[in-house]
Amino acid sequence: MKIIKKAKQMQTIAHKLKLMGKTIGVVPTMGALHEGHLSLVRIAKKQSDIVILTIFVNPSQFSPNEDFSKYPRTFNNDKSFAQKEKVDYIFYPEASEMYGTDFETYINCEKTSKMLEGEFRPIHFRGVTTIVAKLFNITEPNIAVFGQKDAQQAFIIEKMVKDLNFNTKIIIAPICRTKDGLALSSRNVYLSIFERDDALILSESLKIAKERIGKGERNPKQLQKEIRKIIDTRNSSKVDYIRIVDASSFTYPDKLVKGTEIYILLAVRFGKTRLIDNIKIKIK
Ligand code: PAF
Repeated sequence: MKIIKKAKQMQTIAHKLKLMGKTIGVVPTMGALHEGHLSLVRIAKKQSDIVILTIFVNPSQFSPNEDFSKYPRTFNNDKSFAQKEKVDYIFYPEASEMYGTDFETYINCEKTSKMLEGEFRPIHFRGVTTIVAKLFNITEPNIAVFGQKDAQQAFIIEKMVKDLNFNTKIIIAPICRTKDGLALSSRNVYLSIFERDDALILSESLKIAKERIGKGERNPKQLQKEIRKIIDTRNSSKVDYIRIVDASSFTYPDKLVKGTEIYILLAVRFGKTRLIDNIKIKIK
């Protein structure tokens, strides 16, 4: 496994590999790897000849009031994880390598980046699409794997790939959870024992909502109200949003229609830690 820190060097390697007829699978991450990231690497490994794991805590997707400086950085640990999974290359640039002092070109998915997460994190998705586009240009992936936990991010990246004709197939991998249901996230390390216990309400409420849909509930507003009531029972919880969207368009349906797929999306703070979670459901 090679660790590459310079964009030009990574780009030359990726380009040579492509000329040799190799397929490249990329897993973009901000490090602090956990089992969820490894599941993405395993998918990339199965579907491509060469796997490039990118590790970069991207400053442009954090607002000044967010946790950029505090975001967990665990490179040595990440390196051994990657080695065990037989990753071929880690692309691990410095911020100055990715954003020179005269950087001024951004990519923005205009509409979808403003809703949901975008309402609470206004510059977030502009930073994500910009860095992912740069990473794609540097690594020339045939496929790139993202997690369903960041469902809006995955949707926006798929949109960017379609709108801007990137020659990369986006694969969205299922959410990995602990045995008691907490969606794996690098931010879980911030939770106190009590907050972690409260946070289990996220997956519990999603499960209950799925059951309600199974029994015939078709009103998104009613479901959102019921989920809110369940989450509000936990002391440390503070809901940012609970929203149902159509999975194929990220629009808000008035009614759940047979044959469509929806996401129930949650963003909730537990103390100072903000967690997101979701479930994708096919309406039968
Ligand atoms: O999901 C993440 O870890 C980040 O948003 C990504 C896609 C690596 C871009 O910085």
